[in-house]
Amino acid sequence: MDPVHRDFFEGGAGRERTLAANEEAFARRWLVPRVLRATGERDLRTEVAGTRLTAPVLVAPTAFHRLAHPDGEAATARGAAAAGTAMVVSMAATQPVEEIAAAGGTLWFQLYPQPDLDFTEYVVKRAESAGCQALVVTVDSPVFGRRERDLRNGFTDLPPGYACENMRDAAGRVRPIAMDATAGWDRIAWLRGVTGLPILLKGVLHPADARLAVEHGAAGVIVSNHGGRQLDGAVPTLDALPSVVAAVQGRLPVLLDGGVRSGGDVVIALALGARAVLVGRPVVRGLAAGGSVGVRQVLERLTTELDEALALTGARRPADLTPDLVVTR
Ligand code: FNR
Repeated sequence: MDPVHRDFFEGGAGRERTLAANEEAFARRWLVPRVLRATGERDLRTEVAGTRLTAPVLVAPTAFHRLAHPDGEAATARGAAAAGTAMVVSMAATQPVEEIAAAGGTLWFQLYPQPDLDFTEYVVKRAESAGCQALVVTVDSPVFGRRERDLRNGFTDLPPGYACENMRDAAGRVRPIAMDATAGWDRIAWLRGVTGLPILLKGVLHPADARLAVEHGAAGVIVSNHGGRQLDGAVPTLDALPSVVAAVQGRLPVLLDGGVRSGGDVVIALALGARAVLVGRPVVRGLAAGGSVGVRQVLERLTTELDEALALTGARRPADLTPDLVVTR
């Protein structure tokens, strides 16, 4: 991969403290397995916001897949479908959502709130018509994170020949993605008025915001710090998870992303209360290395490891995982 693009995919904001801390937070947790639980064959299936998942693992929305592999987001969708995993399509995808949907599989669509509400509605309708089953609204980006690697490399936008294809307006012009610092909770109410799709809020770290998400009719929250790409110094997601789970009191599903790298990591997140996890960079690496096959292999490896880790922890289903199975060192 072009080293400048590699820096874009791998890097984070500021000194990359949060980027590193997401993985370190998993390394501080240890599983305390139960034995002789007669789990038999495991059942990985779960449900989130009306979408049935074959395993509690989704592809996180990440931008610019054509820079990782010429087959782009459609290859990611094909790989995810082959692995039985749902994919969240980024608003910054380099292929149109209709083309990505044609690759098959279960899709959700990620949206950055845009100041132009008519245009936002237009994008949402497109995602809906393409068959996306939920809307993931990214709420941790009132401004763009300061990515030092990209600044150093002078990487500010897609190279010529590439575009954010889901930002085309009705006239066919590509609009730049705006980070909207004027968006408030009323925007969620507005969105609920323009779409019947379930709305999940991505980038919730504070328990008070998780409670507000419940009050505003969200179908789920995703505990995320954007893979350490927005606020450097933001709490590692695994450390934020328990207080968010406690705040929502089971009224909506809590998902997590950031630093999930193995089946054991998935078990830890689920035991601490996540309904499912999303993975970002590992999927991009699979795409870069092997296109749709690479994506499938990354995801199958994760779910196979998850199946084994469940058995070794003494659980048959994700729902059997409880906080007593995790200690922090
Ligand atoms: C992202 N992420 C992201 N999130 C989002 O809501 N919209 C987007 O367009 C993007 N784009 C994006 C690009 C790249 C290259 C990365 C690495 C990440 C954040 C992503 O959805 C997720 O929160 C993190 O990637 C999860 O952390 P891990 O799994 O990469 O550690």
